[in-house]
Amino acid sequence: MSKNKQKKFQEMKEFARVYQCSFRDMQTGAQIPKLAGRWNVDVFANDHPIVLELGCGHGDYTVGLARRDTSHNFIGIDIKGARMWAGAKQAEIEQLTNVAFLRTQIEMLPHFFAPGEVDEIWITFPDPQMKKATKRLTSTFFMQRYQTVMRQGGLIHLKTDSPFLYTYTRAMLQENNYPVLADTDHLYATPDSPLLTQAKALQTHYEKQWIERGMTIKYLCWQLQHKDDLHEPDIEIEKDTYRSYGRDYQSKSAEHKAEKLT
Ligand SMILES: C[S@@+](CC[C@H](N)C(=O)[O-])C[C@H]1O[C@@H](n2cnc3c(N)ncnc32)[C@H](O)[C@@H]1O
Repeated sequence: MSKNKQKKFQEMKEFARVYQCSFRDMQTGAQIPKLAGRWNVDVFANDHPIVLELGCGHGDYTVGLARRDTSHNFIGIDIKGARMWAGAKQAEIEQLTNVAFLRTQIEMLPHFFAPGEVDEIWITFPDPQMKKATKRLTSTFFMQRYQTVMRQGGLIHLKTDSPFLYTYTRAMLQENNYPVLADTDHLYATPDSPLLTQAKALQTHYEKQWIERGMTIKYLCWQLQHKDDLHEPDIEIEKDTYRSYGRDYQSKSAEHKAEKLT
């Protein structure tokens, strides 16, 4: 690990309102921080509704949401500590008391939150996981986890660049009869409504990059309902052609640009 990364990990341990416990930590005997049902009492010292950003990356969106709305408590969750450090550091500098960060796997949510403790969820630019549905953060596998921690009727927002994930998520919502409150395949070209105005108000780190690359941003908002029986949609979806697969990105991106020109 580089010295810079080591320094960030050390600082993460010292920040107020940063909590860390990965699946591997648990396997090696680390205690899970006793946060379930305690966030508002022990962390925020108020009774404001709790909003999660899942896969918060650098944490800039979580911090931005918290700056705009002090009537809610915001928790950014991601497994990558060196990225999350940026948002956590910013929250420390600005002494924002309505922001926390949790470094863990999203799959572990039920270990960290009590039933109904979460009011709202933002899922921002997740990897579309085109090969495996259970890894998609909008799959029924994850809906089941969300419903164990979230109140009935709470809002879930998805912002994505990916036509694949957008199509998949719409199909999943339709298959399971979730009430959809907003749906656009081009957020910034759609006239405002209260939900869309909110979704347009801030851009994430990745969102800015996708916009720069000429991608349109898709946005969905639905109400989570607690259901016993969830079904994966049975549809074939065309894969995104422009996606980065690590080091392969440059050539894929060049191919995509060439495709667009022809
Ligand atoms: C493409 S980045 C987007 C980051 C940020 N939301 C943004 O828009 O700038 C996806 C993030 O999700 C995180 N992530 C993906 N799957 C995860 C999981 N199962 N548990 C925790 N974090 C996850 C990754 O570590 C990564 O930081």
